[in-house]
Amino acid sequence: MVEARWSPGGTSTCWEGVALSSVDGSSSTPLLSVRNLRTHFDVGGHAVKAVDGVSFDVHEGMTLGVVGESGSGKTVLSRSIMGINTASNASTTGSVRYNGTELIGKSKRELRDFWGEEMAMVFQDPMTSLNPVVRIGRQLTEHLRAHKKMSKAAATELAIQLLTWVRIPEPEQRLSNYPHQMSGGMRQRVCIAIALACSPNLLFADEPTTALDVTVQHQILNLLSQQQSERKMGMVLVTHDLGVVATRTDEIAVMYAGKIVEKASTSTLFSDMRHPYTQSLFWSIPKTSEPKHTRLSAIVGRPPNLAALPVGCSFADRCPYVQPICREVEPELTTDSTHSFACHLPVGSADADAALSSNIAQGLAQSEAAAIRRDAQTGASA
Ligand SMILES: Nc1ncnc2c1ncn2[C@@H]1O[C@H](COP(=O)(O)OP(=O)(O)OP(=O)(O)O)[C@@H](O)[C@H]1O
Ligand code: SF4
Ligand SMILES: [Mg+2]
Repeated sequence: MVEARWSPGGTSTCWEGVALSSVDGSSSTPLLSVRNLRTHFDVGGHAVKAVDGVSFDVHEGMTLGVVGESGSGKTVLSRSIMGINTASNASTTGSVRYNGTELIGKSKRELRDFWGEEMAMVFQDPMTSLNPVVRIGRQLTEHLRAHKKMSKAAATELAIQLLTWVRIPEPEQRLSNYPHQMSGGMRQRVCIAIALACSPNLLFADEPTTALDVTVQHQILNLLSQQQSERKMGMVLVTHDLGVVATRTDEIAVMYAGKIVEKASTSTLFSDMRHPYTQSLFWSIPKTSEPKHTRLSAIVGRPPNLAALPVGCSFADRCPYVQPICREVEPELTTDSTHSFACHLPVGSADADAALSSNIAQGLAQSEAAAIRRDAQTGASA
């Protein structure tokens, strides 16, 4: 019998799957090590390259922020690592090691042992991850009861604790609600409660606070931070919100067209971004220092078709610094000790400055827009 008591630092509960002892890694072994991960979808005989050669590590207690425009592959990446890409047209290759154990190639049945206490996911869309015809209370308690042999009363008590923890008002009453009887923000918090019920060692949080107002967002992010510091939980935090990644992550990976195009510690990335796409994302954040009614700076153009990627750099059609080499040779991700980026003319280099001037002289729209933005930024910070 499991005691119905849950605390952020506790490890006694699980909502899905049977706990599997971790393969003990040395302190230098990353909690998660992803290498050359690819997930391609076969659509009419064409490969949609949603994730295309992604590598990174997550160590215990650390948060990796994953940012990028809609469709850049953030959700497919998280689901591929968890092994929950259910699409029949998907094929995933590469390596995903959790505490040293390879997960790629494991069956769903084998992976089930890792879901819950080892890895859990807060899904981007709460409505599709909750069962619409099952009451919230049952969704929270059924796995606890099934896998932890808890009594109904104990599982219910624990469910109430979890709902309280994610700031759901009147949690006892809410247990009898169906998902459609809750607001979007409440459903999202229920999903967070379910994911954390088992105190996982690694959490994938896919836009976990998108539907929440700023105050609740702050509370939830604080609760996740508390989990991390108390249990050394690793986290992959997927978000559109650069404000959130700036304050809540240790490292940031910027995704574009299924690839990581820049990765660095959060402080390095914000102080010394090298990829033009990262710079464009950063420029698209409204700044409080700007005068009222300043036009938002959207990134020119659209992301490429993942089933027909251009030769060379995928960002070339939108890049203010683009040069002929960019359309001929795909830039490789180069890494020094602190920083990885994939660009022939990294931001801040003399080559990039010369390329921008040359493109402006030729009247390239995205280069002119970038120069205006750069001057506005310089003026704002002067
Ligand atoms: N089953 C599928 N078949 C074909 N293409 C798919 C499938 N699932 C996802 N994709 C494609 O994979 C790409 C990446 O999708 P993904 O959901 O990972 O984007 P995202 O970065 O999470 O976007 P958002 O910020 O909008 O959530 C998209 O182009 C999407 O259309
Ligand atoms: S400068 Fe060239 S390689 Fe770098 S992002 Fe722009 S188009 Fe791509
Ligand atoms: Mg997504």
